[in-house]
Amino acid sequence: MVKVNLDGVIREAQPDELLIDLIKRAGGSVPHVCYHPQLGPVQTCDTCMVEENGRLTRACATKVVDGMTISTKSVKASAAQVEAFDRILSNHLLYCTVCDNNNGNCTVHNTTKLLAIEHQRIPFRSKPYEVDNTNPFYRYDPDQCILCGRCVEACQNIEVNETLSINWEDPNPRVLWDGGSPIGDSSCVSCGHCVTVCPCNALMEKSMLGHAGFLTSLKKSALSGMIDVVKGVEPETGYGAILQVSEAEEAMREHRIRKTKTVCTYCGVGCSFDVWTKDRHILKIAPEHGPANGISTCVKGKFGWGHINSEDRLTTPLIREDGKFRGASWKEAIGLVARRLSEIKAKDGADSVALISSSKCTNEESYLMQKLARAVIGTNNVDNCSRYCQSPATVGLFRTVGYGGDSGSISDMEKADLVVIIGSNTAESHPVIATRVKSSHKLDGQKLIVSDLRENEMARRADLFLHPNPGTDLIWLSAVSRYLLDNGLAHRKFLDQWVNGLDQYRKSLEFFTLEAAERLTGLSGRTIRTVAHMIAEAKNMCILWAMGVTQQSQGSDTSTAISNLLLITGNYMRPGTGAYPLRGHNNVQGASDHGSMPNMLPGYQLVDDPEVRLRFETGWKVKLPTTKGLDNHQMVEAIHEGKLKAMYLIGEEMSIVDSNANYVGAAFEKLDFFVVQDIFFSNTCRYADVVLPGAPSLEKEGTFTSTERRIQRLYQVFEPLIGCQPDWKIIQDVANQLGAGWNYQHPSEIMDEIASLTPMFNGVNYERLAGYKSLQWPVASDGTDEPLLYTKRFAFPDGKARLFPVSWIGPTDQPNREFDLHLNNGRLLEHFHEGNLTYRTEGIREKTPDTFVEVSPELAEERGIQSGTWVQLISRYGKVRVRALVTDRVHGTELYMPMNSVESPVNRLTSSHTDPVTNTPAYKEASVHLKVLNEVGDSPLPRVNPRFGHPTPQGGVEVERKWKRADYAPPGNRNGNGLVQLQTKK
Ligand code: SF4
Ligand code: SF4
Ligand code: SF4
Ligand code: FES
Repeated sequence: MVKVNLDGVIREAQPDELLIDLIKRAGGSVPHVCYHPQLGPVQTCDTCMVEENGRLTRACATKVVDGMTISTKSVKASAAQVEAFDRILSNHLLYCTVCDNNNGNCTVHNTTKLLAIEHQRIPFRSKPYEVDNTNPFYRYDPDQCILCGRCVEACQNIEVNETLSINWEDPNPRVLWDGGSPIGDSSCVSCGHCVTVCPCNALMEKSMLGHAGFLTSLKKSALSGMIDVVKGVEPETGYGAILQVSEAEEAMREHRIRKTKTVCTYCGVGCSFDVWTKDRHILKIAPEHGPANGISTCVKGKFGWGHINSEDRLTTPLIREDGKFRGASWKEAIGLVARRLSEIKAKDGADSVALISSSKCTNEESYLMQKLARAVIGTNNVDNCSRYCQSPATVGLFRTVGYGGDSGSISDMEKADLVVIIGSNTAESHPVIATRVKSSHKLDGQKLIVSDLRENEMARRADLFLHPNPGTDLIWLSAVSRYLLDNGLAHRKFLDQWVNGLDQYRKSLEFFTLEAAERLTGLSGRTIRTVAHMIAEAKNMCILWAMGVTQQSQGSDTSTAISNLLLITGNYMRPGTGAYPLRGHNNVQGASDHGSMPNMLPGYQLVDDPEVRLRFETGWKVKLPTTKGLDNHQMVEAIHEGKLKAMYLIGEEMSIVDSNANYVGAAFEKLDFFVVQDIFFSNTCRYADVVLPGAPSLEKEGTFTSTERRIQRLYQVFEPLIGCQPDWKIIQDVANQLGAGWNYQHPSEIMDEIASLTPMFNGVNYERLAGYKSLQWPVASDGTDEPLLYTKRFAFPDGKARLFPVSWIGPTDQPNREFDLHLNNGRLLEHFHEGNLTYRTEGIREKTPDTFVEVSPELAEERGIQSGTWVQLISRYGKVRVRALVTDRVHGTELYMPMNSVESPVNRLTSSHTDPVTNTPAYKEASVHLKVLNEVGDSPLPRVNPRFGHPTPQGGVEVERKWKRADYAPPGNRNGNGLVQLQTKK
């Protein structure tokens, strides 16, 4: 600690702490407009001037040094602050009472008040630009823009989409998109970072405009009139009186605008934020305090909430009668569900019934679903969609390190010297995690290796991009491991101290010579050696992987090979290291954690362990089934075989997202009784006998667990639409109709029960998760959690990790003469999965209306295809009709099809082959024949899609260019006081 004199009081500070942080910590109130703790010093506004040992300096960019004397209120400092803010007001019209940003958190308004500004010395000067309304979600008003550059800093260095800049050299600077495009035609991905950090109303969510204030919905002409009146009285009354009026209006808003914390419903990053609402209207999503995301979101979390108030929502239970659905009361529907499940159980046994939980639902709901299966129906036939993506990664980690979850946190990915991404389109599938890697790579010298079939955004940014033959990651990973061991580059000390099984593992690597790897992967030996040396030289390495690895017939083994490589290089147990299988759905981690798996009770406790069973039997007061049930792949087989007769499925679009969709649909047709619980009439509902309307995340309470094992609470934003119910209540009603006698009044009671039965969650309760608090499992009974796993030992009885030998078998469904092209598939940034939720947001539809198949330029030329050409893709299992998009993101004879379609789902083409360890479908192993149809339409991606934009990467806001302007002088400089310009970065 160092000591400084702050306004006459001696304060202790961290060495290198920014002055502004010290001042705020000490309860001081220096103005600061451009500074934002999550952006670091931007240094554009000059309002934070303080006097340090007689010189003026910016508090936001000055680091504390022992013995400093700082005055925030000296005459010189105060004059400079006012002068700086005066310049800001020359760029901004103060019309707070009729401004949608007058909500108590407007930095410009608050600074006007803090500095007690009564009159402007520099008059407002309009900028010669139109308001830009071309983005569907937000608008930019140059006249209100104070040129603070927060938005630029956020876009360039936090989101790292590198769209924004300020033309500092222009006589009339403004914020530019792609150097001067309309926003709607630019590379802007609508992540909303810029809007979130804008300190005034220059950038605003369109959903706020005309809705937030009491007077803001007035016609533009009336508003202009009112603004003129305000301006007219200002010379006489001063701003003080005017601000009092606006503050009265702001206080009235407090009563009608609700701000409720929730957790994103889309991907596994686990972004959390406040939802601002007025009645059922979503005013905006306000991220700030989320432990995983801070100010960050992607387009889905920030703007993709059209599904909540969609007219398509199911609002009444439906019962199939004579081949048609009719509306029914809850009483009738639940009664029918219970009666039919009982009848089928009585006739064919409990194992003729299966349940599928949802990874969109809460932990508590997943827990109740498996409890319903086991404790009420009496079967272990329960699963969730992690079978489709995550189970192989979980197995790889169970085999080697003991816990089936990310070994650290997102902050560890930021800290790593080297990040290796394998089979993950991180920038689109886990956008906020990608921002952290992009930022560390751009600003902090982090190295990046990407292995993928497609040249996705991360691949384009990588220091080394590997494009191995499809399905051969296991080979190059093992070859790298062998090379490191053979050349003395492995971490011997770590291996000796912490790892078992080295000899057997070494033996298993015999096959994986550089020559074999070259032949099978198509990568050169030199490239593989380069990878090995980059890994050996990195002090800390994280490996991130996703469905490009796990959705292969050797997904478990490849995940194991990844963890083996981390072990031999000692990349566990320290910050900045570890294994990160990126979980797809918001709660796919939690759905498995809470026991919706055929072989495990909550907390990964085996169903065939008598001790475990006894604990649950005592807690639940029932006898439990003793043998492993069917997973969802086996359920489909069992239906075809006539063994499985009834299914209760919640929140899963299984008829489209399971592999070999035609086969799955045919199975559903054979079910004697099928219950589907969802918020929309999904494609899967078409096969149902009873449809129950559930509630989306904003209409219920509960917890989600994100990819970093982070358990977070979501609070109820809206009452469920009339006719719908939170899923946990529906499951409870079904259980009680079957005689269970449950009486949960709130999800917190369910969590208390989970904690009492599950060592991994012993210390979890709602109090410890209140607000933005979170816990990363395992959580000890005193509430201690583990953001970084294995800091003291690995999760095996002897505390040591285990190298697990794997061998190479080779992919299924290989191309041949007839099916000559390899088809890859995955997610798109804008749509989540098949799009049942995201297509309900108009702006997303406008930017990304449809699916497509990506075709390489060389294949397009060979087959006479252009973007927009309709083609038919035919596999051994089905066919789809889709438009082509010609792009160099894919190479040669490899195609890519995003999964965002219900009409042409890619899974009509995929097979029933699986990873034998987990039964995860080998989605990524598909071969197709491409038939060019004699029909050319528009490009499936409209020109307004950000992929057609031209980003303008730069170091940040580049304030130095502002300082070089002839008309710029630091405030307070007129009296010859030298300004200390510290050019600190972060
Ligand atoms: S990508 Fe677009 S929305 Fe995101 S920060 Fe940049 S300009 Fe703003
Ligand atoms: S638009 Fe950007 S530069 Fe303008 S006020 Fe908002 S954050 Fe600052
Ligand atoms: S979809 Fe994922 S990255 Fe985007 S806001 Fe939601 S949790 Fe964050
Ligand atoms: S807060 Fe803007 S320059 Fe310091």
